[in-house]
Amino acid sequence: MNKKIAVIGAGNVGASTAMYLAEANLADVVMVDIIEGVPQGKGLDLSQAGPVRGYNAMVKGTNKFSDIKGSDIVIMTAGLPRKPGMSREDLLNMNADIVGSVAREIKKYAPNSYVIVVSNPLDLMTFHMQKVTGFPKNRVCGQAGVLDSTRFRCFVAMELNVSMTEVQAMVLGGHGDTMVPLPRYTTVAGIPIGELIPKDRIKAISERTRVGGGEIVKLLKTGSAYYAPAAASVQMCRSILNDEKRVLPSSAYLTGQYGIKDIYIGVPVVLGAKGVERIIELKLSKSELTALQGSAKTYKEHLKILGY
Ligand code: LAC
Repeated sequence: MNKKIAVIGAGNVGASTAMYLAEANLADVVMVDIIEGVPQGKGLDLSQAGPVRGYNAMVKGTNKFSDIKGSDIVIMTAGLPRKPGMSREDLLNMNADIVGSVAREIKKYAPNSYVIVVSNPLDLMTFHMQKVTGFPKNRVCGQAGVLDSTRFRCFVAMELNVSMTEVQAMVLGGHGDTMVPLPRYTTVAGIPIGELIPKDRIKAISERTRVGGGEIVKLLKTGSAYYAPAAASVQMCRSILNDEKRVLPSSAYLTGQYGIKDIYIGVPVVLGAKGVERIIELKLSKSELTALQGSAKTYKEHLKILGY
């Protein structure tokens, strides 16, 4: 039997995620949205691309949450995107309602699934998803670190005019302006970027990464990025579904690692058949650790607004 992945939301992020999932032939996809006709239309369109693109995955669009029954993974993309001038945290209350109600449906119809949260503000929505579903913490994680790192990788590749895939990067912390790019752990074919790029340029690239989502919001004017967020979610999905045990920065529940606990925040994790199988604790410099802990502190304050 084919594996099944549910994508909640048929907007730009949801539909792009469904497209990359189908292209990867990973699983059959069910895309749920409350807007009548849109998920059905996009689903049919994506299924009809299969013969040309060479995939067999079926993409079904629906307005019924009961159709997510039996899903191995649920990717939560629904929620309002940012408009220019807004921070991800400005979306807190509106998206908490959406995430809360979807979480109850996931709990009801796909109680054994793994959940990857993409809705913003990411780390807070992932926390909320885990609380409302009551799922074990290894089965709920947030997609952000892969996105932030792929932006960093792309900027480094552009700077050096080298292949994107040669660049490995690590970005920790919350998916917001407090994120912590780690140039020390960023390499090109194993060579630390400190040996290839001058300090001031590394600083500029790190800063551009930190506000990378906002740069796209400013350009699009009507919403936020979707191709890279979708691609990042699919990479996480694949690692779980195929038990690849890839080391990917993800928003995970900390229980004292990095001196932080009871919060979801971006850290390197091993993603495999059991979801978040392990959190990797890197040796951080004093300033890196302070930045990560500062990021966590900000989110603790925001969680209070949600009543946690
Ligand atoms: C971004 C949004 C989707 O970083 O969080 O592009």
